[in-house]
Amino acid sequence: MSAHASAAESRISVRDIRHRKGGAPLVCLTAYSAPMAKLLDPHCDILLVGDSVGMVLHGLPSTVGVTLDMMILHGQAVMRGSRRALVVVDMPFGSCEGAPETAFANAVRILQDTGAQAVKVECAPAVIPNVRYLVERGVPVMGHVGLRPQAVLVEGGFRARGREEAERRQILEEMRAAVAAGVFALVVEGVAESLGSELTAQCPVPTIGIGASAACDGQILVTEDMLGLFETSPRFVRRYADLRALVASAAERYALDVAGRRFPASGETYFSSKRRPGTPVVDIPAG
Ligand code: KIV
Repeated sequence: MSAHASAAESRISVRDIRHRKGGAPLVCLTAYSAPMAKLLDPHCDILLVGDSVGMVLHGLPSTVGVTLDMMILHGQAVMRGSRRALVVVDMPFGSCEGAPETAFANAVRILQDTGAQAVKVECAPAVIPNVRYLVERGVPVMGHVGLRPQAVLVEGGFRARGREEAERRQILEEMRAAVAAGVFALVVEGVAESLGSELTAQCPVPTIGIGASAACDGQILVTEDMLGLFETSPRFVRRYADLRALVASAAERYALDVAGRRFPASGETYFSSKRRPGTPVVDIPAG
């Protein structure tokens, strides 16, 4: 049995997630690295390797510049760091929009190279036939409607969606099309609260809200937003920590200690037996 197969058996499955419709809320966060995945895994049903990695870790202005290779590298790291949560990897901009065979080859690369159990696709109407093509060939797909960050170039920015009737109807239609194509769950991002509730009421698979509605079947946040790593964050983010201040203060104290020769101290230094006769040699473990 391959390592991928044995890992998949002990994890929350796509089927488990689908059965949570209307049940206990799904707890979901983004993860891009092995150590962060290890910390989040015991608390989460889904770890999403989001293409937000481009903005959060790589300093890109949007998710448009994120590549398949980047998603695979981060997906592998998250799989190594987790063992319980369902891991879903985003299909980056351009990887699902072309010929169905190409979209399928890209999705298969993600699943085979990372061992993740599902991909996420932003469900623009033009992509729906490819979503169906993937699902019919055994690729579990999580959909994403409402604010679709990969549409930033045509939208001209990130703004809440579905505040007006026409757009509201359009997003409800996008949900129905995604469900008909076979998605097992649906991320709903940046929509008016009443639309988030309505989508959840009408959608037969779990909705996972981010800036959507407390009525959604689950919630997701970008972990670094939730940890307070950025100066500003969207209105819908609740900060559960102030990591920005913590890191800045730690870096400042470290710099002062190095400058003042207070770091390293003797307990943080290796000595030769010649230099400290009689002192037992103790290796400081890495990490
Ligand atoms: O890329 C991402 O992190 C996402 C979440 C915001 C849902 O799509």
